[in-house]
Amino acid sequence: MILVTGGTGLVGSHLLYHLTQKYDTVRAIFRTNKKREHVKNIFSFYTDDVQQYFSKIEWIQADITDVPSLEPVFDNVTKVYHCAALVSFNPRDYRRMRRVNIEGTANIVNFSIDQGVKKLCFVSSIAAVGDSINGKTINEENEWTDSTDNHEYSITKYGAEMEVWRGSQEGLNVVIVNPGVILGSGFWNEGSGKLFSKINTGFSFYTEGITGFVGVTDVAKVMIQLTESTVKNERFILVSENKSYKDVLFSIADGLHKKRPSIKTGRLITGVFWRIDWLLTKLTGKEPLLMKSSAKSSHNTSYYSSEKIKKQVHFEFEPIDKVISKVCSDFQP
Ligand SMILES: NC(=O)c1ccc[n+]([C@@H]2O[C@H](COP(=O)([O-])OP(=O)(O)OC[C@H]3O[C@@H](n4cnc5c(N)ncnc54)[C@H](OP(=O)(O)O)[C@@H]3O)[C@@H](O)[C@H]2O)c1
Repeated sequence: MILVTGGTGLVGSHLLYHLTQKYDTVRAIFRTNKKREHVKNIFSFYTDDVQQYFSKIEWIQADITDVPSLEPVFDNVTKVYHCAALVSFNPRDYRRMRRVNIEGTANIVNFSIDQGVKKLCFVSSIAAVGDSINGKTINEENEWTDSTDNHEYSITKYGAEMEVWRGSQEGLNVVIVNPGVILGSGFWNEGSGKLFSKINTGFSFYTEGITGFVGVTDVAKVMIQLTESTVKNERFILVSENKSYKDVLFSIADGLHKKRPSIKTGRLITGVFWRIDWLLTKLTGKEPLLMKSSAKSSHNTSYYSSEKIKKQVHFEFEPIDKVISKVCSDFQP
């Protein structure tokens, strides 16, 4: 039996679609019915016969931080795809992120060891890979360094990876993927989905920072390929292309037939903006619009190499403009 955590999220739901193409039954955990129902919407981007594939999923209600709820989940499980995480750039979420991302992953690792799972595939992030040295392209060998510049989400993803490596030391076969910014359909008000929603409503600002981007379908396909291969105890950066936010936003605007953002913002403007926003959130208690870490990273220039995954399993990534064009055609305001 295959188990997917985080199956109601961006990566997990697209992964579930691809797994249901190959297997008769796939087990997935969920927390709320509303989120589980949303997975049907994701499947509808791929097929007209949603029910045929959705009905192959055996859903169990569980929370990765709640050990007793995980007991029935691991029965007969041989392969685990661990996608569940709390993704947030709000420092206020740090404690919750430590609990879900680090302790939750430790629980998944412990159950996998106890139940004799054959392989665990863990979704980490480029946020958990070390920074560039002297502006060089970043690869899997870049070592994480403790620094006050590390933001809270990165720290918890790195901590989660440490739990997975600990599992490998205890005999569990693992593979870790470190995707860049993942673009995909269906989560229009969260994560990278917001880029599409914002451009759709006439967002005017862009920055020229550069980072790695990848399509969610490629992430799902690589995860399945790696988990079914003999590769073990390795990690792989998943980036189709390194692109500027400007280029990505312009492509999204073109794909949605909207105006391209026209105001370039430098570090000074975003620096002032996040500080004012921070003050307003303190006064009003509302959710921040721009986090300090997001403001900073939107100007960073980081290039990532996917040579390892390309060589090891001969994977070819979809170009980002093609990914954006498909996501734009699925876009539902
Ligand atoms: N999106 C990106 O650009 C990106 C880039 C690199 C790496 N990643 C990594 O990819 C993975 C998936 O990210 P995503 O974008 O798919 O995130 P997402 O859309 O926010 O989905 C997160 C998933 O985790 C589940 N979850 C959260 N807390 C949980 C808990 N305590 N117990 C059980 N399930 C819980 C959520 O369930 P509910 O639906 O019930 O909330 C949801 O299914 C994460 O590990 C993330 O760090 C994402």
